[in-house]
Formats: sequence, C-alpha cells, structure tokens
Amino acid sequence: MSTKIIPVAPFDFVVFGATGDLSERKLIPALYHRLQVGQIVHSKEAPCRIIGASRSKMSRKAFQDFARKAIQEHVAPEDIEDETVKTFLSLLDYISIDATTDAGWQELKEMIGETPEDEARIRLFYLAVGPTVFPPIVDRLASFGLNSSNSRLVIEKPIGRDLESAQQLNDTVGDAFGEHQVFRIDHYLGKETVQNLMALRFANIMYEPVWNNAHIDHVQITVAETLGVGTRGNYYDKAGAMRDMVQNHLLQLLCLTAMEPPARFDANAVRDEKLKVLRALTPIGTDEVKHLTVRGQYRAGATDGEAVPAYLDVIDAEESNTETFVALKAEVSNWRWSGVPFYLRTGKRLATKVSEIVVQFKPMGHNIFGRVDDDLEANKLVIRLQPNEGVKQYLMIKDPGPGGMRFREVPLDMSFADSFDVRNPDAYERLIMDVVRGDQTLFMRRDEVEQAWKWVDPIIDAWEETNQTAVSYSAGSSGPPKSFEMITRDGRSWNAIDGNS
Ligand code: BG6
Repeated sequence: MSTKIIPVAPFDFVVFGATGDLSERKLIPALYHRLQVGQIVHSKEAPCRIIGASRSKMSRKAFQDFARKAIQEHVAPEDIEDETVKTFLSLLDYISIDATTDAGWQELKEMIGETPEDEARIRLFYLAVGPTVFPPIVDRLASFGLNSSNSRLVIEKPIGRDLESAQQLNDTVGDAFGEHQVFRIDHYLGKETVQNLMALRFANIMYEPVWNNAHIDHVQITVAETLGVGTRGNYYDKAGAMRDMVQNHLLQLLCLTAMEPPARFDANAVRDEKLKVLRALTPIGTDEVKHLTVRGQYRAGATDGEAVPAYLDVIDAEESNTETFVALKAEVSNWRWSGVPFYLRTGKRLATKVSEIVVQFKPMGHNIFGRVDDDLEANKLVIRLQPNEGVKQYLMIKDPGPGGMRFREVPLDMSFADSFDVRNPDAYERLIMDVVRGDQTLFMRRDEVEQAWKWVDPIIDAWEETNQTAVSYSAGSSGPPKSFEMITRDGRSWNAIDGNS
C-alpha cells in the first residue's frame, strides 16, 4: 500500500539557528524529503525558498555545502537523488543576522521582499535556537514588520521551565503574533503512531465503547531511551526528565489516550479536549509525591553493548539531584477515567529504546472455561511509537489441536513496516508541512502548555520540599527498583522494556 501526496502552497521558510544541530539533523532532511516526494513544489512562477539565518558569517555557497552534507549524513542513501539535491540546494539562501541587535534584519526583510505579493506569501519563521533568544527574535520580527498575516512562528520546547516563565514567553510571542500563527512543536505529536492512536480510537467502532473505566484496568506510557544526556548536560541538569519529557511528550500522549472524541478533527476541537484532560489530572502535592512518583539518576553501566559513564561524570559534577528517570502514577479524575491509573515512565540510559502506550483491559467478568482459569490473560493493546511502529492487540486464542480448551495469548499484529510500502516519515516532515498548511491540530496551544506546567510545577516543588532524592539505577537497566515497587504495590507490573511487546 502506498500513500497519496498532496502538494502544499509555495512558501518562504526562514530558519534561525540554521547551522545548528536541529537544522542539520531534522529540518534540512525533512524539507529535502518533502521536495523529493513532490509535496514541496518549486517552480519559477511559484518558487519556494529556504533562508538560513544565524550569527555566523557565511556565504550562500557555504550554507549550501552545509545542507548538502546534512543530506548526505541524515538521509538514507537510497533517497538521495542528484537532481533533487540540486533543486533543493537552489532553494537555499543565507543571511547573517544577530538576534540581539538590529544587525542583518533590514537585509532579511529585503531578501524576503516587501511588495504586497511578497507579504501575501506564506512565511515560516522557525526558531531552532535556545529559548533565551526567542524574545529578541520575536520582538524584531514584529518591529521589522515581518509578522504579516500569512506569517507563522514555529517554536520548540522548552516553553519555559515553569508556569511563570512559560506565561512570560507566551506573552512575548502573543504581542507579536496571533495564537493562530503560533506553532509550538512537540515532535511526539508528529510521530506516525501517535496520529494512529487517534485513527485507532476514532476511525474504528471497536475501541470507543470499551475505552473507559468499566473495561480498562490501567494505562502505561513508557518512553525509554538508551542515549544519555550527551553534550546537553548544561541544559539538562537544570531541566531533568520531568521538564524535558513528562511536561510535554508524556502528557501529550496521555491526553490523546484519555481525551473525549472531539466533535470534529480540527485544531481547536482536538486541543479543547486535550486541555480538559490536563485540567482533570489530580494534583500531586507534598503528601502524595513520595508514593506516586519516583525520581532516578543513572550510574555507570552499559547500553547497546557499550560501557557508559554515570550521569554525574558526564556533567562533570560531584553531586546533582537532577533526575534522568521519572515514574509516576497519574489519575484523570473524570467520569470516563475515575479509578484507572495512568502509569508514566521515562528515562535515559535504559535497557532499550522503546516508546509505547499499553492499554491493559480488565479480566473477563466470568470465565466459562472454569478449570483453566489461570490461562486467561486479560486483553492488552500495545501502541508502539518506536521502534517497529505498529499496533498489537493481544487476544486469547485456543491452542491448536485436540486436547481440550487450552488458551494462548497471541497478538493481532499490525506492523507499519509490513503493511505499507513507504518510508516512515520523520515527525518533522509532517509537522513542517502542517505549518505550511496552517493546520495547528498537532501543535500545542498556549493554554495546554500552561496547564501542563500547572500540574508539573507542584510535583517539582514537592520534591524540593520533601527532599526526595533521585535514586540511582544502573545504565542499561530497566530503571530504579523503586519504580517497580510503585506499580507492584497496586498489584500490577510494567510491560517489560525489552523491545518485544
Ligand atoms: C527531546 C528531549 O524532546 O526528545 C530529549 O529533549 C529526548 O532529551 C528526545 O532525547 C527524545 O525524542 P525521540 O524522538 O528520540 O524519542
């Protein structure tokens, strides 16, 4: 099976931080792929332009060389076509600009063009830079009149480090751009299987009737990584897994799992429903935090068959209480979910890289095969985000052959790689095209981001107040033993992080 490509309108894409890591690893390859499949259409009459902006002095040719290298290194060899690379490089331009002074801004304005036709073109300003320079860039986009009605601003997390700083940032952005022009990226929402979660729930009749506390025992959301903090120690040590992963990616996954069906699949209808879930999360304060959350920090060990140093050695510090692992038990206090725990867990340097949502159904109310009672496992739905994207519905079937009714748990397995003869696009490909189309469905609205901080801030405060330390776990393990105690206390167990579920 293959997929249909719908071309987008021509656009100007200005990327601040053009020579940075995000641009190199994600944005340039994503734009290249979309050109290759014909979703970006470039012609003399309707040109598309990609303008790299950053502080370094660099010629257009040098930026083209940078982009060529990015494509060679981050696009699979079978997708590199000389003609497409040539066309792609011809779309590129470069401008040296200083985010914190006016240097280069008039030149950028002239490059983009100032005629009414230029103003009417779709413009994307992608801030692939650290959050401290968001405000000066946004201010200058406004003061140089670059925030025309067809302009879109794309920002990446972290959107603040708590509610107050998120509000400040959102205010700055809101002074220059309308909310309908602001695209806050959570790249998890661009992952194919995350969107498939919505397809599964709302394009099939089977699940919605049982998607509630009468039939679901609990939900697990795991985002396990084998990577450590790498070269991001500076940022990470001030953030920790709670701010880096839970506040955004994990809560967004929880929202999509728990939200009510929106009336229509449009941006505000979907985001309204997600916001209601965030508002329904039971607060976790100083009294509950010890039982409902676990913080961990990795010590030395081995991942992917290689010895790796402890977090403290990576950040070169004698001590730090920053968590590289979080497990927590969340409750969505509403009619549908009351009594159904959502267990969330994320960590660096774990045994395998796996992101998945496990929906564990309740056991059968009555077992007509009485004598083999122990054989009947409750049904389980596993939505695998990465790797091996797909959906597995675990069912009980009869063991083949004579010998009475014996049962076996077997997955109905829908692997995307096996079902579709297409490359699984990176999240950024989908998200950038959505920005061009002006579709905000997969982007976080201001109130969602702030509501997520309203739930997360008290947990972080409670950790401080109760001196809850990050307990150590060995790199390459499945996380601290305490995270297992947290769930076994409830008579449940984590789905194994072994990549096989
Ligand atoms: C980022 C976090 O948002 O997501 C990183 O800042 C993390 O710390 C990354 O490694 C994980 O993304 P993915 O797509 O590799 O699961």
